[in-house]
This record gives sequence, C-alpha cells and structure tokens, in this order.
Amino acid sequence: MKFINLLLSVVLAFSFVNSQGQNRIDDNISGKVDSVMSLMTLEEKIGQLNLITGEGEVTGPVTMDRNYVQQIKEGNVGSMLNVNGSEYTRRIQKIAVEQTRLGIPLIFGYDVIHGYKTIFPVPLGETATWDLGTIERSARIAAVEATAAGQHWTFAPMIDISRDARWGRIMEGAGEDPYLGSKVAQARVRGFQGRYFNEKHTMLACAKHYVAYGAARGGRDYNTVDMSIRRLKETFMPPFRAALDAEVATYMTSFNELNGVPVTGSKRFVKDIIKDQWNFNGFIVSDWGSIAEMIVHGIAKDEYEAGNLAMNAGVDMDMEGRIYIRELKNLLEEGKISEEQINDAVRRILRKKFELGLFEDPYKYCDEEREEKLLLAEPHRKHARNVASESMVLLKNENEVLPLSKNLSSVALIGPLVKADKEYIGTWSAHGEAKHVINSLEGFKNKLGENTDIVYSKGCDITGEKKDGFADALEKARNAEAIVAVVGESAMMSGEALSRMDIDIPGVQKELIMELAELDKPLVVVLMNGRPLTIPEVDEAVPAILEAWLPGTEGGNAIADVVFGDYNPSGKLPVSFPYAVGQIPVNYEHKNTGRPRQEDVRYTSKYIDGPNQPLYPFGYGLSYTTFSYSDIRLSQEKIDFDETLQVGVTVENTGDRAGEEVVQMYIRDMVGSVTRPVKELKGFRKIFLQPGEEKEVTFDISPDDLAFYTKDMQYEAEPGNFKVFIGTNSQDLKEKGFKLVK
Ligand code: GLC
Repeated sequence: MKFINLLLSVVLAFSFVNSQGQNRIDDNISGKVDSVMSLMTLEEKIGQLNLITGEGEVTGPVTMDRNYVQQIKEGNVGSMLNVNGSEYTRRIQKIAVEQTRLGIPLIFGYDVIHGYKTIFPVPLGETATWDLGTIERSARIAAVEATAAGQHWTFAPMIDISRDARWGRIMEGAGEDPYLGSKVAQARVRGFQGRYFNEKHTMLACAKHYVAYGAARGGRDYNTVDMSIRRLKETFMPPFRAALDAEVATYMTSFNELNGVPVTGSKRFVKDIIKDQWNFNGFIVSDWGSIAEMIVHGIAKDEYEAGNLAMNAGVDMDMEGRIYIRELKNLLEEGKISEEQINDAVRRILRKKFELGLFEDPYKYCDEEREEKLLLAEPHRKHARNVASESMVLLKNENEVLPLSKNLSSVALIGPLVKADKEYIGTWSAHGEAKHVINSLEGFKNKLGENTDIVYSKGCDITGEKKDGFADALEKARNAEAIVAVVGESAMMSGEALSRMDIDIPGVQKELIMELAELDKPLVVVLMNGRPLTIPEVDEAVPAILEAWLPGTEGGNAIADVVFGDYNPSGKLPVSFPYAVGQIPVNYEHKNTGRPRQEDVRYTSKYIDGPNQPLYPFGYGLSYTTFSYSDIRLSQEKIDFDETLQVGVTVENTGDRAGEEVVQMYIRDMVGSVTRPVKELKGFRKIFLQPGEEKEVTFDISPDDLAFYTKDMQYEAEPGNFKVFIGTNSQDLKEKGFKLVK
C-alpha cells in the first residue's frame, strides 16, 4: 500500500469532528498528528520546519534556488510563501501530496496585509477609521479573496507599535498607541481567521513582527532596538498579547535585536513568554532569513550556532533561511537540541494543517472558479470605497472650504498623485493591480459627470526638482473655480526598508502648493502618504487639508466622496504628525518631566526653535459638522479595588450635517511608584449623530485599567489620585478627578 494511502487511512480513521473552536486542541487532531508523526523520519520532520519562497514575487533578499520542486519531492519543504493563485498552488501541492513518501500537504503563506486583489487603505490609514467592525470586515474580505486564490496563511496583521514617522513600516501598523493597536490587532485577527480554520474562506493569521521592531534606532529599518523592560511590556508587547487573546494562529519573530539579542534567537522573549507564559499552542515562524542573519548581527558564528539559538528560542519554522534543513540534524546528534523540541515544532505545524482541513482535501483552497468569481467582487470594491472614505482625516477646513459644491462650473485637479494609479495601493499590496485603481481624476468624473469642467495638470513629479510643469498647472488653476491638489509620497516611500530622514512632502510639491495658494482661490490639499508628514508651511498657507493616506483600489472615488460631501469625514489620527522631524518621538503618551514646558520660562523642557506639541495630535480629526461635549459625570468620586467607575459625557451634534465622532477616553495616574504618562488612551466609541442629536457616551474604568508595571515590576494599580479625560482628540479634552482607594 502506497504510504499516501496508509497516511490517509490513518487520518480518516479519526473521523473528523473538529467543528469546535478552531484553536481548542481537539483530541482527534492530537491523535491524528501523533499518528502521522509516528510514520515520519527525522528528515521528514525537519522538512516540515522549512518554509521557502516560490516564484510569485520576491519579498526579501533573494536566497531562493530554483530547484524548490526537487526539495519538495525530497520531503524537505513543509510550507511555501509567494505561491499564488489556484493553478500554481494546485500544481505545487500535487507535488507534495503525490510525489513525496508521506504526501503531507504544504501550507501556502502570503503577505495579505491590506487586501489581496481588492486593496484597502494601508493599515495605518485604515486604523484612522477607529472602526473595529470596518477593520475586521476588510480582513474578512481579504481572507475570502486570498483563500480563493489558494492561500492558507497570511503574514498579517503587522502589529508593531511605532512612534517614529521616519520608519517606513509605520505604514503597515496601527500607529503609536498600544490600546488602539491592541484593539485593531484583534479585529484583524478575527477578520482573517473567522471562526473555524477548516472553512474555505478563513485563513491563519500571523502576529508580526514580534517584538519592538517599530522602535528601531533613528527610525531606520532593521536597526538596533534597546529599551527598558518596562517600556517593552507597557508599549510594545500589549498588541501581541491581545492577538493571543484573539486566538491568533501564528507569530513571526522580528529582524531586530532587542537589548543585545536578536529576537529570533531570544528564548527569554520568545519561548519563555509566548509559549510558556502565554501558553500559545500555534507555531512561530522566523522572518525572512532572520535566523541566518544572527550571524551578521554577530551573535552566532555560523549557521550551526544560528540554528541552535533559534530552535532553543522556540522558533518552529525557518523562513527562507535554509538553516534548519541544514543544521538541525547535526544539532540533535550533538545534543544541542532535543528530539522533543523538533517533535513539538512539527506537532504545532501539523496541527494547523489538520485544522485547515488540508489532510482531508489538500486542494480545497485551489478553486479556479471561486477565484474568478470572488476576486475584485463588487461588494469588495464597495467596502474598499467605504473604508477609504472612513479612513480619511480632515486636518483643516478654514471658512468651510470643504465640502466643495457639486455645482462648480470648473475644478482644477493638480498634482503628481492625481492619476498615479500604482501609488494608490501602496506597498504590500499583494495581487492588487494599478489597472484596477480608480484614481482621483476618474473619481471626480464619476462624481461630477458632465456638470463640471474638470481640468487636470500634473504640475511636477513626486520627487525631483523640475518645475517646468508649474506654468501649466497654475494657468489651469487660475481659470478654475476651485483647486484640488493631490500630493504626497509614492508607494515606494513607505514600507519595508523605506525609511526617510526628511518627512516633508517630497520634491517640489510643496513649492507648487505654495504657488497655488497665492492664487487666492478655494484650495484643497489632499495628502497621499504612508506615514505622518511635516507640513507646517502648507498648514499655514492652505485653508483645507485632507489626509487620504494611500487609499487603495477605490481611492479616487473615496476622495471624491469626501471632497464633495457625500461622506462626512470621521477619521482620527492613529499617530501624531510632528511639526518637524526633530521632534520625533512626539507621541501623546509622554511623561511630565520635572520641568514641563512653560512659555517664556527659560529653564523648562522645550525647543528654542519650535513647539513641543505636534502639528496634529494623536486622535485628531475634524468633521463637516461640530460636536459639543458636556462636563464629565462620574458614578462616584472614588472606587476601591473591587469597584468599577462609570464615567460619561453627553455629546451633541451642534452643526447642520449628520456625522460620526470618535469619543476618546484617557486616564492619568497623578502619582505612582514610578513616573506615569500625562495621558493614556483607555477607551473610545465611534458614534453617529444627526444634526441636533445628542447621545450619552459612558465608559467603565476598573482598577485593571489603571494597572502598570510598578517600581517592583508588578503589574497592578496603585491607590491614589487619578484624572479621567474625555474628548475629541488627545488634546481637546474635558477632565475630572477621582480616587482609587485601598
Ligand atoms: C519580509 C517582511 C515580513 C514578510 C516576510 C515574507 O521581509 O519583513 O513582514 O511577511 O518577509 O514576505
């Protein structure tokens, strides 16, 4: 009997009843895994720990040797990435299932970061919706499309907190705050994973990059990270713990060293925390070559030592490093690692293959018909348009320049981003294609039809010093009733290995904007960027500024929806926009210091050439209507450790247009056994109000919400005086005091 049939008979002997919670370790699955493992040689087990790239695309330093088919046949490959589409994945899966001794199916992984074919705003932009349902739905749609194209596993969500806008990968995450970042991480994990992995439209998620990757020195990607354990645990760890609570299936370790040890080789941060303390039962994958890179870091003298560090750190799978496949057998024979460590890693991976249903039907995700039907489906595009509109942040709107009237006789669309289709989908845009993008010119035409004369001029390039396009742009702008300038960064100015030391609007775009402002006409600047930009001069000169991020496939329609008032902007910044790059880090959750800034007082903490505050603070965003907040009401003046405080406000829409408001709640611990931030986000609610309508918004504050790592590194609240703040952003807030008493 061929081994494959033997294997299948073993598998089917345990009739598949795993319809319970996907991560609950089902006895049947454990039994099946053990049965398969009992058939495996050591080499086959090690093969399951090897993840290599296919030819779909290159997402790291190319180490791929083209003979990956032969490696699969020899049982040396357990999973692959960058193998896309039903046809390609079916073709490769057949090799693993039909041409290897045991026929163990492969897992196919891919970077489905903000959409698969239908591309949503970059994750930082999507976070600006502060709408967890919308964010979850985007991940859900991405999973539907990706699984229809043969994918089982996405290397998302990226949940690295970052407070450094120079870092290109700030684009991929959820901004500067661990509370918001944790909620968004959970929404994305739920969206990708659904309820059961064996459903056709759900996939494994991957919490990455564990940990503190976003704190790279100088904001330079892959650079050194060094911080206190308190800062690590209070700012950078929470989203990863939150992902575990959302039952994330996998983690990915980061490239960076942390306090002298590359995380990929750190037993203290990986195995001891994720596996032992958090009792995680999924598997942990390295980042691309991050095991081998420990040699370059200078903590492993060769591949043998790098493999030893990673396996003992608890990394189960080696992505594109080829270290495990070459060194684990030697390490085992020389007693550096144990067979149980290998078995544990294999077990974790096989369990996911069973939970995905791949042993029952290795081709269940390779369905050309589904792929054809589901990719770019109309409901997906509709959602892409809605989430893009909802992600946009109105930064300025003097004299209510916005929304523009649809009855304008003419509008000039100026700037290098207007028609730059490929920039709309950003980087990490999977199988998204520029040809499917609705750009701003198309979006305006869709919106205005023949009513309005739309004139377009590029004006200049995104980068470079050429100004020979200015004359045409200014001429067209001069003759139009209103001007909309669409400017910002190219897609390849944010993302992996795309850090910038200057975060102004690049090239001569700013000069173009300033000349447009001289025309003294209604001028709207639409920013398209993957990170905060420093735009104090533009803020000074331009009456209306809309942050559109890199808005995705439906970006142009979404921009038109907001600019012409069919959607009232509700976005709030998930990251502070510095006044100048020299302010970085300038996040809202900062300490008071012993000499907080006082105007005109010399010996206080300030810059002599600029403000301490960012240009636009965390949580900031305007609306086409206005909202008023009542004073804060407390259920009681003090609580003890067994009580919960209710705090609330009444929010009223005091304008003449319906709109959404993100009501934010922060706390401050006035005195602690260590110094405490002046503010920490502890709650938010997105509400919709008709004109004149008012709503009660309440939050519960329990002692758990007041906990922090004390002087003795105990995670607990300390009695004393607190303040609660509620308002429309991290600066404009009502406040009230309360006590926590023993
Ligand atoms: C890249 C990225 C990681 C990605 C992986 C696979 O280098 O750091 O985020 O998931 O390789 O493409």
